[in-house]
Amino acid sequence: MMKVRIQRIVDEARDIRSFRLVRSDGLPFDAYEPGAHVDVTGPTGVTRQYSLCSPPDDRAAYLLAVKKEAASRGGSSALHEQVAEGMELEMGAPRNLFRLAAQAREHLLFAAGIGVTPLLSMAYALNAKGEPYRLHYFARSAEHAAFAELLGGPAFAGKVAFHYGVEAADLDALLAACLACASAAAHVYTCGPAPFMRKVVEVAKRSRAEDAIHLEHFQAEPSANAAPAGSFDVRLASSGVVLQVPADARLLDVLRAHGCDIDSECREGLCGTCIIDVLEGEPDHRDHCLSSKEKAANKQICACVSRAKSARLVLDL
Ligand code: FES
Repeated sequence: MMKVRIQRIVDEARDIRSFRLVRSDGLPFDAYEPGAHVDVTGPTGVTRQYSLCSPPDDRAAYLLAVKKEAASRGGSSALHEQVAEGMELEMGAPRNLFRLAAQAREHLLFAAGIGVTPLLSMAYALNAKGEPYRLHYFARSAEHAAFAELLGGPAFAGKVAFHYGVEAADLDALLAACLACASAAAHVYTCGPAPFMRKVVEVAKRSRAEDAIHLEHFQAEPSANAAPAGSFDVRLASSGVVLQVPADARLLDVLRAHGCDIDSECREGLCGTCIIDVLEGEPDHRDHCLSSKEKAANKQICACVSRAKSARLVLDL
């Protein structure tokens, strides 16, 4: 974590504020990969992940935008109510689980609400690379759309379509029409509320392979078909030690209690920090960071949330 200073706060839309951050030591940041996020610890000590949305090669400052959530547990509300320009925050280095596909030559970005932030950084990068793309931005109204002026301006001319107040019943047809306007080879990226992303994925799957569809989760949602947690064993391949993970414990915590040094950040299956290689057994994947291909391969497990379908897992530890 490093100290950063809030240089500027801007009200970007209803309940959405942007924060321009500079390093407290005056040095430039590293350039970041489009789609990356950072951990930010606010004045209440709560750490949350926020996507970066400044031009990725602008090393003078990072920009992030925060929506004040009605059910905030001290993360977004503190950043809206308890910080001011000039104050310091703690911030981690950028990490990226939501990359532009290197093999894609055309890109379709679907944002809803605050989900525009990682897609804005991608749009900057695609502008710089000169690769064809289109950003479809869904919001309840113009008043709710952050960065609407920027995205409607000359820097993104002809690249952005705004869709305001779309009824749920109309979303399927509208998404299908947006997809039909791009080539079948275009990769799809989406970020926003879970029901919106589910619909984008559902519609996009009709015309594209699953590995051409990329999404970013902001917060974990309970998996509708997750089985109730049971206990299971893990064997550590290097020592042969077998540990039991009780029904009410996380694999991550059991491993740490045994002295395994495993990093974690979100503890919600979002960031990918705690991923461990699996040598044998079948994980019960409950995370949002491994791809469906990676989950099907059963070679990795997110230790903070995932469990086991088989009685035992053998871990590469
Ligand atoms: S700690 Fe973030 S995915 Fe496990």
